[in-house]
Amino acid sequence: MSNPSLLILPGDGIGPEVMAEVRRIIDWFGAKRDLAFDVSEDLVGGAAYDAHGTPLHDDTMARAQEADAVLLGAVGGPKYDDLDFSVKPERGLLRLRKEMDLFSNLRPAQCFDALADFSSLKRDVVSGLDIMIVRELTSGSYFGEPRGIFEENGERVGINTQRYTTSEIRRVARSAFELARRRGNKVCSMEKANVMESGILWREEVTWVHQNEYPDVELSHMYADAGAMQLCRWPKQFDVILTDNLFGDLLSDTAAMLTGSLGMLPSASLGAPMENGRPKALYEPVHGSAPDIAGQGKANPIACVLSFAMALRYSFDQGAEADRLEQAVERTLAAGARTGDLMGPEGGTPLSTSEMGDAILKELDASL
Ligand code: NAD
Ligand code: IPM
Ligand code: MN
Repeated sequence: MSNPSLLILPGDGIGPEVMAEVRRIIDWFGAKRDLAFDVSEDLVGGAAYDAHGTPLHDDTMARAQEADAVLLGAVGGPKYDDLDFSVKPERGLLRLRKEMDLFSNLRPAQCFDALADFSSLKRDVVSGLDIMIVRELTSGSYFGEPRGIFEENGERVGINTQRYTTSEIRRVARSAFELARRRGNKVCSMEKANVMESGILWREEVTWVHQNEYPDVELSHMYADAGAMQLCRWPKQFDVILTDNLFGDLLSDTAAMLTGSLGMLPSASLGAPMENGRPKALYEPVHGSAPDIAGQGKANPIACVLSFAMALRYSFDQGAEADRLEQAVERTLAAGARTGDLMGPEGGTPLSTSEMGDAILKELDASL
């Protein structure tokens, strides 16, 4: 049988830097765990624009549809700020999500004990934290019509539309309930049903799925603004948070800071199961291209490394190897390895991106 295929799209800024470390880890699994992938690389974002005048070439889109999984670094950067909206780097990523129909975006926020003192919140509040944000990823205000910038009564008006259908809400709700059953069995759904009709529908449909299909899971509802406050006040009250595209974007960056750094948070964007039982899938860190540190070897590769661990778990049925990689990261941090984003004002000498990669590989070797 041929090896599973992995399409790598390093993208822009720190994307290629963190992805270089993941490539070494992928090679390690091939050499040491007999777990080889057919890896190919392509362009996305600004890098694709520079080469082809589009942030995602049709051939790349087709390859992503064919691959067993896609791993993406990050897109965007100031160089592309003045481009027409239709060819901005971020449009490439949004096209991938939409055309692959990756409606369920899992964003786990886990606080590794070694970093509990580094979070901007108190140790008590974050230590042992393990929550999962399930963000709807292919609809809502990111994609709703009408949208655009128009002329109206002599002035300009910018329009985006928050729009959800029953089936869009139900399918992402199911994925949240399924996950909850394998974790702490609790889902908290967040919207703004107090001011938005789409929020009313969201609450009703999530409740319908709960009552008809998952009555064994504990369900609660919260307004998303209050949810943001509760995430900072006492995040350990949550197990799975289910929310829409835009609120999920904001809440997951908030959750990132509970773990110490945006450089720590991985994500998996999953579609419906295909005939082979696996979902279409794209794995990517939650962070962006970090233009302020790009090209300096300062980026923390852990979010991207942990995104590959999620690929092992959700696309390749290799839960034990995913555990091995996550534990290697945990031991690396416990041994004191830190990139600059994980250091406070008191300083010290941070590891470079590749030194952090070395340290993780050393722990992987030690796991054998
Ligand atoms: P960002 O996530 O790139 O950076 C925010 C801050 O976090 C910066 O100070 C950065 O240095 C730091 N940071 C992020 N990742 C880090 C890492 N791995 N190691 C160390 N520090 C890290 O967000 P931004 O500055 O708002 O956006 C920059 C660009 O990235 C924009 O063009 C934006 O659209 C894009 N973006 C892309 C993605 C993606 O590709 N998935 C996600 C978010 C933002
Ligand atoms: C993310 C990013 C993206 C989003 C951008 C780059 C399109 O912020 O993945 O969190 O808004 O979804
Ligand atoms: Mn974001």
